[in-house]
Amino acid sequence: MKGLKDKMKAIKLRIKSITVIVLTLAISVLVLNGCGKSEEFGVGPVKEEIKLAPVDAALYTKGEQIFVSKCVACHKFGSRLVGPQLKDVTKRRRPEWIMNQILNPLEMTQKDKVSKELFAQYLVQMTFQDVSQDDARALLEYMRAVDEGKVTPKE
Ligand code: HEC
Repeated sequence: MKGLKDKMKAIKLRIKSITVIVLTLAISVLVLNGCGKSEEFGVGPVKEEIKLAPVDAALYTKGEQIFVSKCVACHKFGSRLVGPQLKDVTKRRRPEWIMNQILNPLEMTQKDKVSKELFAQYLVQMTFQDVSQDDARALLEYMRAVDEGKVTPKE
């Protein structure tokens, strides 16, 4: 009889430790997912989700003007220059991430996993181009318009 009781105790203990392991795993997955999300946004002033409507011609025209004066020294669409080529960037990154990369490039290359990898690859630090959050939003619209074939970049 005693043997059976000990066996039951051992089984109960095992169930308890399995429960603890499963719970720990579940919590880690939740926490890691949370981090993943904030990484997708990147680090910077844009913390709220950007709600996208169909591309707006007035907004992307403004973005195009800023792009031509502040970004073309380092970026093209279609081939790499000093920085990465930007064709399809709106398909590979979140809008919030793109805006934070434009508004906060220094901290992005230090703290955001993807931006850090780009820096390791291009070996040049993108610099802040003295743009406002509205300018960054217009630049995002321009990149969306290029990716949707609504405008052809002058390059
Ligand atoms: C001095 C050169 C330079 C200038 C000017 C510059 N960038 Fe960059 N950009 C880079 C580099 C280099 C990277 C890769 C990250 C790094 O090394 O800092 C990058 C990364 C990016 C990325 C991420 C690309 C990807 O594949 O995910 C975007 C988007 C971007 N830049 C947009 C802009 C915009 C918009 C402007 C103009 C406001 C601009 N950049 C001005 C050099 C520059």
